[in-house]
Amino acid sequence: MYVCLCKGVSDKAIRQSVEDGARSWREVQRETGCGTQCGKCACMGKGITRDAVRESLAFSTEELAYAV
Ligand code: FES
Repeated sequence: MYVCLCKGVSDKAIRQSVEDGARSWREVQRETGCGTQCGKCACMGKGITRDAVRESLAFSTEELAYAV
């Protein structure tokens, strides 16, 4: 689904950005351009970023539990 119509950014692109190492909304904005024009998508973009970072951190914590 498209989140940002101005820049053509999808929720998948935001999740991919987090997967590639972005850890904040600001970094996702820099990577994708989401929310950098009219700003109407910022609230949804931040929410998707927050959830993706949370999922990513939970996954890495699980990896640690197995590694120890
Ligand atoms: Fe994302 Fe306009 S819809 S900046």
